Amino acid sequence: MSTTAPIQDTMPYQDPTRSTADRVADLLGRMSVEEKIGQMLQLDARDDLADHVLRRHVGSILHTSPERIVEANRLTQRTRLRIPLLVGEDCIHGHSFWPGATIYPTQLGMAASWDSALLERVARATAEEVAATGVHWTFSPVLCIARDLRWGRVNETFGEDPFLIGELASAMVRGYQGAGLDDPTAILATAKHFAGYSETQGGRDASEADISRRKLRSWFLPPFERVAREGCRTFMLGYQSMDGVPITVNDWLLSDVLRGEWGYSGTLITDWDNVGRMVWEQKVQPDHTHAAAAAVKAGNDMVMTTPLFFEGARDAVAKGMLSSSDFDAAVARILTLKFDLGLFEDPRLPSDRRDAVVGNAEHAALNLEIARRSIVLLENDGTLPLGGADAPGPLSRPVRIAVAGPLADDAQTQLGDWAGGSGQAGWLDGQPREMITTVLEGLRGLEHVEVRYARGAEILTLEQDPSGATFPDGQPRPPVVVPSAPDPALIAEAVAAAEEADVVVAVVGDRIELVGEGRSTATLDLIGGQIALLDALIETGKPVVVVLLASKPLVLPPSVQRAAAVLWAANPGMRGGQAVAEIIAGRVEPSGRLPISFARHVGQQPTYYNQLRGQHGDRYADLTQSPAWAFGEGLSYSTVVYADLSLDAVELDEADTVRAAVTVTNTGARPVLETVQVYVRDTVTSASWTDKELKAFRQVEVPPGESVRVRIDLPVADCTIVDAAGVRRVEPGAFELLVGPSSRDEVLQAAGFEVVASGG
Ligand code: NOJ
Repeated sequence: MSTTAPIQDTMPYQDPTRSTADRVADLLGRMSVEEKIGQMLQLDARDDLADHVLRRHVGSILHTSPERIVEANRLTQRTRLRIPLLVGEDCIHGHSFWPGATIYPTQLGMAASWDSALLERVARATAEEVAATGVHWTFSPVLCIARDLRWGRVNETFGEDPFLIGELASAMVRGYQGAGLDDPTAILATAKHFAGYSETQGGRDASEADISRRKLRSWFLPPFERVAREGCRTFMLGYQSMDGVPITVNDWLLSDVLRGEWGYSGTLITDWDNVGRMVWEQKVQPDHTHAAAAAVKAGNDMVMTTPLFFEGARDAVAKGMLSSSDFDAAVARILTLKFDLGLFEDPRLPSDRRDAVVGNAEHAALNLEIARRSIVLLENDGTLPLGGADAPGPLSRPVRIAVAGPLADDAQTQLGDWAGGSGQAGWLDGQPREMITTVLEGLRGLEHVEVRYARGAEILTLEQDPSGATFPDGQPRPPVVVPSAPDPALIAEAVAAAEEADVVVAVVGDRIELVGEGRSTATLDLIGGQIALLDALIETGKPVVVVLLASKPLVLPPSVQRAAAVLWAANPGMRGGQAVAEIIAGRVEPSGRLPISFARHVGQQPTYYNQLRGQHGDRYADLTQSPAWAFGEGLSYSTVVYADLSLDAVELDEADTVRAAVTVTNTGARPVLETVQVYVRDTVTSASWTDKELKAFRQVEVPPGESVRVRIDLPVADCTIVDAAGVRRVEPGAFELLVGPSSRDEVLQAAGFEVVASGG
């Protein structure tokens, strides 16, 4: 039979009683080389859908408005084999571009909860919304390690620690993929960006990553290995090159490590136009023919938004650089996903359940819960909670609050990147205003408050990049940010409000124009008139509560040392304003812990806690190296004391478990949700290594005045380093178990133990 002959109604691949493997083999055998090439393509649904589906035989689309999902499906009915489309989208903190969907705090914000079960619930709720709208695949979670705060995509990460990243990422993968792909509320998860993309030069997005294989194995790969082994169905590549090799053709990572060592059988997708970038940007391939051939040979399964991959691959076949069977492994993996999702029987179009599921009340409640948990109290001189430290509950006495700052009432900015207003999707301009509570609205919603608001400052204006409006591939170039000058009239108005208030809440931070792909920042300072505003407010002598609504850690001005309190709310999602207000009032206890360190100065980069030992001294001539706030830090409205760290045994072999216990006492008057952090120090290592690494954490509720004995069980097998040969192993010798409320040495209890070689 000719491979291009029309098919009858029931071919073996259309028979749901057959196994996925049989169906894949049958369908693959019927596909022309063009159909196979097209199956490997994922194209932008905002472009010409008919051309994508009917001419290029596309296997998947992304960035799809509600209407275009239905239209695309209708087009597939006109194709010879009627292969359904996989629909992908960046639903990375909620169903980002669906009007009226629930938008949660950003991934970095959620990471501050250190609560994997909660993140799993958020991912599950997101999957329910996403699945009801005809989208099958989310490009989430992000497993990149954020090490340079200037990078524009820090907000998309879980922060700086590989162990925390692995815990939270695997929870989100479980949440998205649910009980299995035959569950109609399950969606495909994506672990991205594989691997090393965040290791930028100077924070510049997608620059060559200067990263060794040992460094990859030490910190960057472990979270990916974990989710690969746990069944994350897809992996997305980054944009970067390493050692001169674009990730798209990095045989060592894709074949030796991922497919080989880890035995990963899931599907690999490139990032946006990676194949084209090898031609026009990295200039390591002369044309699309060579780029397509190289990408196929390197084991990529799906090629995101390089339309010319179709012509390039076809040409490569014509020139003998590829044969028809070279596409089979990739196409089989893509078809496997489609059969496993049951798309041939039910293309999972937007369903009737949609209105009941998208943005429903249950998800709004979950959103409030995670927003409350994502907020980190960094400083407090006792001004907070406003209701008084001994009196949880509504404010009992009237409080006059002056609210100032350009972010106090900026609903769409509060949602951060990958949300309705962040610019990636043209079919919506922000999420419905009524679904969002800003900090101003949250404070106004409290009982017994009198709120007066003054904007106080502008942040920025935009100008077109002098290099032109678009990149060579036609993608829009982000405009250039021009910081706004301090405005004396706006400041005077805010100061006047402050002078008549009991307390000032200043809401400052960054805006979407300073966040995201291609939008790294050279500075970490507050932009525009915000520093002058804070200086003036603090100068009034009134207690100033600084609410930092910032996508990533920023550097706060020296005047903030005299502020009454500092809260970091990342981008806290639709319910974030309510959560901030409840914490300020004391109706909710602050419990967030930093998943990433804050710098005192941009020149301190990097400030992550787990840096390698060995340098001259421990400070700059003109500044300490110590971060402003370190990984793991965060205050509550109570005080907590750690004591009596004890080990059941201090001599262990590699098969043993370190069994320890520590007493955590709440010495204050308010309840505490304490995150007990467990670090390990390997005292002498065969190759240079970090001084301590997070290995476990436990969250415990401790009522006022009570103590909890917290047990810690840590397999010795987790106390590894990667040696100079790149092998991860436990090195026998002396170790220390460090337990406490953050990564700062001064607050950690220490207990020594010895690992003896097995049989030794
Ligand atoms: C490029 C981004 O790097 C990636 O994270 C995203 O999933 C794709 N674009 C699709 O929007």
